[in-house]
Amino acid sequence: MPEQTKHLLLVEDESALRQAVAEQLGDRGYQVEQAGSGEAALSRIADFAFDIIITDLRLPGIDGSALVQAAVERYPDIIAIVITGYGTVKDAVDVIKRGAWDFVSKPFQIDELLHVLDAALEQRRLKSENAYLRAQLEERYRFEGIVGKSRAMTRVFQLLETVAVTSSTILISGETGTGKEVAARAIHHNSPRRIHRFVALNCSAIPETLLEAELFGHVRGAFTGAVGNRQGRLEQANKGTLFLDEVGTMSQALQMKLLRVLQEREFERVGDSHTIKVDVRVIAATNSDLARLVAEGQFREDLFYRLNVIPVQLPPLRDRKEDIPLLVRHFLDKFRGDGPPTRPPMTVSQEAMRQLMSYQWPGNVRQLENAIERATAFTVGRSQIEAADLPPEIQNAQEPALSSSVSLPDDGLDLERFIASLERDLIQRSLDRTGGNKGKAAKLLNLKRTTLVEKIKRLERV
Ligand SMILES: Nc1ncnc2c1ncn2[C@@H]1O[C@H](COP(=O)(O)OP(=O)(O)OP(=O)(O)O)[C@@H](O)[C@H]1O
Ligand SMILES: [Mg+2]
Repeated sequence: MPEQTKHLLLVEDESALRQAVAEQLGDRGYQVEQAGSGEAALSRIADFAFDIIITDLRLPGIDGSALVQAAVERYPDIIAIVITGYGTVKDAVDVIKRGAWDFVSKPFQIDELLHVLDAALEQRRLKSENAYLRAQLEERYRFEGIVGKSRAMTRVFQLLETVAVTSSTILISGETGTGKEVAARAIHHNSPRRIHRFVALNCSAIPETLLEAELFGHVRGAFTGAVGNRQGRLEQANKGTLFLDEVGTMSQALQMKLLRVLQEREFERVGDSHTIKVDVRVIAATNSDLARLVAEGQFREDLFYRLNVIPVQLPPLRDRKEDIPLLVRHFLDKFRGDGPPTRPPMTVSQEAMRQLMSYQWPGNVRQLENAIERATAFTVGRSQIEAADLPPEIQNAQEPALSSSVSLPDDGLDLERFIASLERDLIQRSLDRTGGNKGKAAKLLNLKRTTLVEKIKRLERV
């Protein structure tokens, strides 16, 4: 296999020195990016999996030592090398404890740095364990099987923890595969109701006519085929939790009946007049925008407010890429369970990690889980997942990812307008990433700066 280009982040506040070192590393084939401060470096590593980070120890603001720690926590396989100003042994030892690979003291010859780099790369090839991330997984960043440490997920965990102990109705929304069901189960298992049942009902999976009987139960002869009396899910969930999935697909008639349950905590079985009282906590989930369905008159407004007492919004995976390395570790551990116990723990090459992090994940966590399962199956006899083991739509994420996340509606679409909105979106994102620098943004898009400026002008008119 040909050597992959190594992506290197060089952090140094003295710009002349940084420039000189960057050039020399570039000449040796490294793909070098530069950062002039710890803050800039931190935001860069948040969304890009570098192979190597070389940082000055003394930096204004966030110093090299804290930066190394953050980089290694996020990417246990990253090689961090520190440049120390005065060669003080104490500082160097401290930063190595925080996960740095080695240090070079100023002033240094470029060859010295290259030598340290070569040795580190060679060693890393031999190293496969990835204890850091696993320890993190076990320690903090999960709430009952929900993995994540992004700010968005941390907020979700706090919310789940707070509301779990109450009996309030909860509405979980999020795209497909974002973990709505795992969140609902987590709430139940952290609530005083956990000793009773968690009963799930997917409102879109059952034909309308049967859904009512499924929810409320029925008595004998209530409809053709109702041979005996039967408890509905509501009764089964008494004292526990009822999870109503895809609640947006419920018919108006049934919405009305559900509203009564939420208001009065009572209902009748289908074909019966006897009123039954229940004590259930309802957690509803939807992947459509219920507020919009209300505006369109498809969903009862009063029911929406009854359900939406506590809204929990699960962010799509593409908006919390920093969770990807942790989720990958989590799924690698999960799928390793099937192999022989002697099999070494799997790792993921940085190139593969980059691809995983640049993909848009229309199917969110479920799709990532499937991709890792598939890749694990492809790596028989190897201990590292390479980019080539990933599903084709994820390799070369750029074009296929976009087109596979776009669906062609039955009644067609306006191609020109669609392409224009795609262009606008990508241009905006490259400007965001480069802090509004049009030259750099153009480079990201493989355009001439003038072409980019022209495009921006044209799109502003559309
Ligand atoms: N944060 C997470 N940490 C670990 N696993 C997760 C996380 N989120 C989702 N998963 C896993 O992803 C898969 C999909 O999750 P889940 O079924 O809860 O999604 P969903 O939002 O209900 O999807 P859908 O709308 O398609 O029903 C499950 O296997 C689940 O275990
Ligand atoms: Mg679901």
